[in-house]
Amino acid sequence: MCQSKQIEVNDPRFLELDKFLKKLQGEKGIAMIALQKAQQLFGYLPLEVHKHISARTGISVAELYGVSTFYSQFLLEAEGKHRISVCMGTACYVKGAQNVLDKLCELLNIKVGEVSADGLFSITAARCIGCCGLAPVIMIDEEVYANIVDLNELEQILDNYRLKDAAVGAASLASPGGKAEAEDPA
Ligand code: FES
Repeated sequence: MCQSKQIEVNDPRFLELDKFLKKLQGEKGIAMIALQKAQQLFGYLPLEVHKHISARTGISVAELYGVSTFYSQFLLEAEGKHRISVCMGTACYVKGAQNVLDKLCELLNIKVGEVSADGLFSITAARCIGCCGLAPVIMIDEEVYANIVDLNELEQILDNYRLKDAAVGAASLASPGGKAEAEDPA
């Protein structure tokens, strides 16, 4: 079954975070700045990072989460270029959402909360996204994919994003100045 990856306790980035937090010792209202620094180092803010900041600063984990979940600048899970949200709401779950989630993890060789090796995709388990009649449902960025009963569809969906991104990259390289050219309106 697909699960979230944890950051190891001996990750060297914690040492750098500690150095930063030491400088803030004795100051008040440092939750925001501590979380910003942690996100800069880790790219996102999993539970382990919240716990670490809490242990070093005395700010409770609940208070830290109060800040990190309130401000949209903070990411609680790692993200790739395209965020895949697999709906795990009741209707989707009953119709096989766990199989969809597991298949995506297998295809991308990642767990929930991780980013694929090429940086293109990350997977998150979401609550009901409001299309229960079309279950099971996934969202990639803002696009909804419904009735994912044939798991083989998933590979094709991912390939479409890979191809689109590769085409944009190629157009960007081919155009003068390295930017994609606008389409001819004629
Ligand atoms: S339960 Fe999945 S869209 Fe509602």
